[in-house]
Amino acid sequence: MSQHETGRLAPDEVREMFDRISPVYDGMNRAMTLGLDRRWRRMAAQAVVRRGDRVLDACCGTGDLALACERAGGIVTGLDFSEDMLRRASRKSATIDWRLGDALALPFTDGRFDAVTVGFGVRNLDDLGAGFRELHRVLRPGGRLACLEITRPSGALKPLFRAWFDGVVPFAGKVLPGGRAYTYLPASVRRFPGPRELAVLLEEAGFGEVGWKVLGGGIVALHTATSRPVGQAS
Ligand SMILES: C[S@@+](CC[C@H](N)C(=O)[O-])C[C@H]1O[C@@H](n2cnc3c(N)ncnc32)[C@H](O)[C@@H]1O
Repeated sequence: MSQHETGRLAPDEVREMFDRISPVYDGMNRAMTLGLDRRWRRMAAQAVVRRGDRVLDACCGTGDLALACERAGGIVTGLDFSEDMLRRASRKSATIDWRLGDALALPFTDGRFDAVTVGFGVRNLDDLGAGFRELHRVLRPGGRLACLEITRPSGALKPLFRAWFDGVVPFAGKVLPGGRAYTYLPASVRRFPGPRELAVLLEEAGFGEVGWKVLGGGIVALHTATSRPVGQAS
């Protein structure tokens, strides 16, 4: 089985994959979610961003969640390690501070941000717990996190989701640039923790008031949480 099929790639391979698919990334997002992805990003931003907040959008990709945070009133920094994704993001806003960097070693001091968002990014991290600890580190105590991620529905939509993710998405990958990414996508969703387990990981990383809602009939989870000071029990 290839690494794309196991849903586990080394960081360099993840970066190269996103560099390759950057030209089709926004179009694929719209098509795969029937346009709902914009609404989910808006909900994530509005859940945690207050006017005047210093906001980090980690794993910002082509920048749509960072833009939603700016529209919600934030002063936004968007960070990603794929130059090609970031180049596309930078064409969308001249006021957002776009930074090339690694979400597992953020180039920011402790407590620098009032809010942190991450959209469809943490699934790709080499070490999920370390990623959450790093997001916690750069949030001020009491700062807010929103994490949007694809999840597996358990209800009536399950068969439809399987047909879409195991059939249509990988097929699309065969005809698009960077096609193996669309084999990796469903495989990475399959191995990713469900919403409850993700909440536990957030608590272990230092977050409190962890909650989530499922969106899109259960295919996406939006987790929100508040940063507890280090050493404070939940
Ligand atoms: C599926 S895209 C999501 C982009 C965007 N947040 C959105 O809502 O569409 C995942 C992004 O995470 C980035 N990424 C993955 N691992 C990263 C890491 N360790 N550091 C920085 N960016 C990372 C990839 O380069 C890619 O742009």
